[in-house]
Amino acid sequence: MNKKFYITTPIYYVNDKPHIGHACTTIVADIIARYHKLLDDDVFFLTGTDEHGAKVAQEAAKAGLVPQDFVDKVSRTFEEIWPKLGIKTDFFIRTTNPEHKKIVQEVIRKIYKKGDIYKARYEGFYCVGCEKFITETDLVDGKCPFHPNQEPQKQSEENYFFKLSKYARPLIKAIEDPKDKNHYQISPPGKKEEILSRLKSGVEDISISRANVSWGIPVPWDPTQTIYVWFDALPNYYSALKITGKENFWPADLHLVGKEILWFHAVIWEAILLSAGISLPKEVFAHSFYMIDGKKMSKSLGNVIEPEELIKKFGVDGTRYLIASSFPYENDSDVGWEKFTEKYNADLANGLGNLVARIAKLAEQTNIKYKILNIKITDKKFKDFHQSLEKNQFNEALTFVWNRISNADRYIDINKPWSLKGEKLNQVLEYLILEILEIAVLLEPFLPETAEKIQKQFAGPKIKSEKPLFPRLR
Ligand code: MSP
Repeated sequence: MNKKFYITTPIYYVNDKPHIGHACTTIVADIIARYHKLLDDDVFFLTGTDEHGAKVAQEAAKAGLVPQDFVDKVSRTFEEIWPKLGIKTDFFIRTTNPEHKKIVQEVIRKIYKKGDIYKARYEGFYCVGCEKFITETDLVDGKCPFHPNQEPQKQSEENYFFKLSKYARPLIKAIEDPKDKNHYQISPPGKKEEILSRLKSGVEDISISRANVSWGIPVPWDPTQTIYVWFDALPNYYSALKITGKENFWPADLHLVGKEILWFHAVIWEAILLSAGISLPKEVFAHSFYMIDGKKMSKSLGNVIEPEELIKKFGVDGTRYLIASSFPYENDSDVGWEKFTEKYNADLANGLGNLVARIAKLAEQTNIKYKILNIKITDKKFKDFHQSLEKNQFNEALTFVWNRISNADRYIDINKPWSLKGEKLNQVLEYLILEILEIAVLLEPFLPETAEKIQKQFAGPKIKSEKPLFPRLR
């Protein structure tokens, strides 16, 4: 039996159109999913949209639509963009799916029956932009530091609370002790330390319902309240499998998220699962953020980059490459049109594209016949490449491939095949063709279309020059 591998992205809020940040997480999740398929794992890859809550309701009102029509419309833009980026998901979950709503209610009811939910007054602030309860000490000049243009809502209402504090100790143990039956990994390592220190500094119970937000799932035993949007969203990872009849994929092997929502994914979600008696995910990985030319991306700054625009300029594989190679692993990553164009020209037009064209041109002039070898991505000689991918160091994995590209270029310059004949020429070409085919195999998860084109072009019996893979751009 093949190993199962279940990978998820965050489900995106439908208050906004898809942008490069959403594309970042979803493209790299697709790379990981494809990589695991090549390792022969049984893969389930989930993405979707988060459609309830005050923020979405506000945007719907601004657009003059009833919430359901609004979310249908925006959710579609997410669902439709992913295939255009060569992303193949197994299911697209929407939190307005009636089955999802039922499952969320079942989970919350279980926790309620266990005695982990109680009613109390919530006094404090709520930031609609973050969809998060915030304390006075979080405020900077009276505003949420992430949404300085919005007024934080002062709130005083009766809510249901979840006993998060009760789970702090068991979670610390589950994170720290690899032998704990609930052990899970938080990565990269720096993020694990951050979460542990916050857990150790004391955790308070959290409000998990809202009295005045009607766009949400009703609390099953008290329909005057709706379930807090995060408590409705997190269970999507679990409900999606129930809805598709793929429960055997639980628990998730990897939740891929941005760093701003790590606390929800590495603490609150696990506490919910512990309380409901459901097993915990294996790993939560948080990446950092794209900055556009040194600035935060925002509508008001007008510097938002949309995936459609990237595809239009760089093509599908070009976009996938630019995203993966600038992946904000631990630090934020500064990107922008100029940087992308430079990188595209250097690595794809001049690097990979040029090498393929050079080898094809040389081979075209001969009658070389070579053994087609069965190249496997699992080959031990690619050990470093695998290690990088296992840590989600996409940039490092690509550097491994691009070193081979420059070595092959150097090999051509040194051996000058254009000055060779007969057996010697064939030897040099055979070496180069094998190199390019190996490079294509390693690139399969990243640039699936390109890898296929190269494999076809060099499959023989006669190798011919083709159109440039990546035309130079300005
Ligand atoms: N709806 C919640 C997630 C619920 S998951 C149960 C949410 N949605 S979101 O639309 O705001 O998407 C946030 C995610 O988008 C981030 O965690 C990250 O994956 C991605 N990104 C958004 N902006 C980004 C950048 N500027 N850079 C990289 N990724 C970022 O939070």
